Amino acid sequence: MKTLILFSSRDGQTREIASYIASVLKEGMECDVFNILRVENIVWSQYDRVLIGASIRYGHFHPAVTKFIKHHLYELQQRTSGFFSVNLTARKAEKRMPQTNAYTRKFLLRSPWQPNCCAVFAGALRYPRYPWFDRIMIQLIMRMTGGETDPAKEVEYTDWAKVKRFANEFAQLSGKSQ
Ligand SMILES: Cc1cc2nc3c(=O)[nH]c(=O)nc-3n(C[C@H](O)[C@H](O)[C@H](O)COP(=O)(O)O)c2cc1C
Repeated sequence: MKTLILFSSRDGQTREIASYIASVLKEGMECDVFNILRVENIVWSQYDRVLIGASIRYGHFHPAVTKFIKHHLYELQQRTSGFFSVNLTARKAEKRMPQTNAYTRKFLLRSPWQPNCCAVFAGALRYPRYPWFDRIMIQLIMRMTGGETDPAKEVEYTDWAKVKRFANEFAQLSGKSQ
């Protein structure tokens, strides 16, 4: 049996985190990593574990994430599962727990799927890669929240050691009998 890792990523950071988790898990289990926006015809019988990761943009996860969960709820509920969210609010220590990160807390409250484990990771800020409007908006948000405002800067806030710990925690969850 394999682990299915699905990610929703606009600028690539969540994809990188998903790939890193796969590289950690691959020491003990087989994994497939797919973009949740493009995945189709999943052969669920191959998988006994599922992990979904999604980033935040302007306060929201991509609508494809909730759509996928709704559509595949039964299959998700049958399997050992995990969820991680990626955003910049989580660069602050007090906002990087599922219960203290507003996006993640709201997601868990509303989601019909309740993953067995959950984590919040700080993402990346890459001003030079953003189109003009996004750069101005992120700068504004950063100014209001005491973050980096230099439009020439790229900052990666992701704590890779935390990502590794989460991958190991996920690997150690007991399996569900299907
Ligand atoms: C246009 C834009 C809007 C964003 N909106 C938010 C937001 O509302 N809250 C937040 O915490 N982070 C926000 N972020 C930060 C992203 O969540 C962060 O850059 C993350 O690493 C993106 O992951 P991705 O590359 O997988 O899409 C935003 C980033 C961009 C570029």
